[in-house]
Amino acid sequence: MRFQTVCFFIFVTTAFGADVDNETLVTFPDGFLLGAATASYQIEGGWDADGKGVNIWDTLTHERPHLVVDQSSGDVADDSYHHYTEDVKLLKDMGAQVYRFSISWARILPDGHDNKVNQAGIDYYNNLINLLLDNGIQPMVTMYHWDLPQKLQDLGGWPNRVLATYSENYARVLFKNFGDRVKLWLTFNEPLTFMDAYTSDTGMAPSINAPGIADYLTAHTVILAHANIYRMYEREFKEQQQGKIGIALNIHWCEPVSSGDVAACDRYLPGRPLEIFAHPIFSEEGDYPSVVKERVDAISAEEGFTTSRLPKFTSEEVNFTKGTYDFLGYNYYTAVMGQEGVEGESPSRTRDSGMIQFQDPNWPGSASSWLKVVPWGFRKLLNWIANQYGNPPIFITENGFSDYGGLNDTNRVLYYTEHLKEMLKAIHIDEVNVIGYTAWSLVDNFEWLRGYTERYGIHEVNFIDPSRPRTPKESAKVLTEIYQTRKIPDRFVD
Ligand SMILES: *[C@@H]1O[C@H](CO)[C@@H](O)[C@H](O)[C@H]1NC(C)=O
Ligand SMILES: *[C@@H]1O[C@H](CO)[C@@H](O)[C@H](O)[C@H]1NC(C)=O
Ligand SMILES: *[C@@H]1O[C@H](CO)[C@@H](O)[C@H](O)[C@H]1NC(C)=O
Repeated sequence: MRFQTVCFFIFVTTAFGADVDNETLVTFPDGFLLGAATASYQIEGGWDADGKGVNIWDTLTHERPHLVVDQSSGDVADDSYHHYTEDVKLLKDMGAQVYRFSISWARILPDGHDNKVNQAGIDYYNNLINLLLDNGIQPMVTMYHWDLPQKLQDLGGWPNRVLATYSENYARVLFKNFGDRVKLWLTFNEPLTFMDAYTSDTGMAPSINAPGIADYLTAHTVILAHANIYRMYEREFKEQQQGKIGIALNIHWCEPVSSGDVAACDRYLPGRPLEIFAHPIFSEEGDYPSVVKERVDAISAEEGFTTSRLPKFTSEEVNFTKGTYDFLGYNYYTAVMGQEGVEGESPSRTRDSGMIQFQDPNWPGSASSWLKVVPWGFRKLLNWIANQYGNPPIFITENGFSDYGGLNDTNRVLYYTEHLKEMLKAIHIDEVNVIGYTAWSLVDNFEWLRGYTERYGIHEVNFIDPSRPRTPKESAKVLTEIYQTRKIPDRFVD
């Protein structure tokens, strides 16, 4: 067990017996990358500019605006399509070393297919990438952050396995055009979240109601797509481009209510934290964890399904997928409490898990109902990943806090300093191999179904002003100090 309770005298003893002085404990290791993150649909705007195709978020916000709490859209958002130079300036001013952004598939391939490439889209990302590099900032590109071209949704979207091939074709266009300069890639962002976009007709785009079925089909396609992209890069680009590829996974830490509930947390999702996606890619054995296969197969049979709702990998696919990573991207926000019990409709992943989840009412809240502030869960989860998968390099691709706006964002400052301290304990005391951190988010932006009501930016954006001016919040100032000194300032250390 890597995680252990530590005593804060001048020195603390690590699991391996090394002493860590209190100065080191609040200092980022050499080579550790610090930066900020965004996603295309949430910031770019320019929804129909210069040949961009329609994606599933354009469709949802235009055709079912009532699903978004303030009936807003990402049509303009931060207008980063026209103001990206300002975003780069914010990063530069902070001392950021890395910028994680995503590419809009339909801006590059308007119909989703690689037979028609939109040169204006290629130009936009070339300009952004070149400007970042000119300013000494490394681009980290997410290939897919939830904005599927509508033409591919018309074929059924992610539950259709053909998308594992179309994703590979899209990725090839990205490697060909940007791979000479982009060395850090993420295939997918939070597949756990967008698999749930197929479990409710009031949920995220495409907002389709097929729980317990389409979510597993989505997971299956995404895992195969990730593996296809990784293997294609190995065959066609890696030798020349020397980039690294990961996937950005998310899960809340699950804290058992009592010692009798440890097994319940092990079935969260179902399967332990992250495992639906991480086990096929990061484990030695590959494939879904046996607890997932056994439970979903058995419950499907009880429910009268002839075919299990969980698709199967062939042994060729298990081998092909295993080890398709250079690092693991991880988004941490919050924790839940887990308890033995059954909840959720039949069929559903919730019911398959055999776990009841809730959050401790004593955990401090945010503007988002699901986001309670639980910094210790971050350290526990990092330890869990390290133990489970042989301590792979982990890049923290997201971590952040929501409020209702305002420049004096004291609670966001505390969120960042407390989480960074927990991460540094995981690095220095527990020897978890964390290699980088991008705060979510560089700027206030379109927060999906919450529209502009929940703000995650470290820079405020005035969404009324057509020029969308950006202003640093208190949190941006504190992160600037942290990024420039590469340590947590004394006033945040108890
Ligand atoms: C480290 O410990 C020393 C001695 O107790 C103290 O003076 C110093 O302020 C501490 N530094 C931090 C960053 O906690
Ligand atoms: C998968 O890999 C294992 C171990 O390398 C090997 O024994 C097995 O034959 C492989 N299966 C297939 C179908 O290639
Ligand atoms: C920000 O808010 C905190 C707590 O609400 C307060 O103590 C502090 O003085 C405020 N700072 C500024 C610059 O307004």
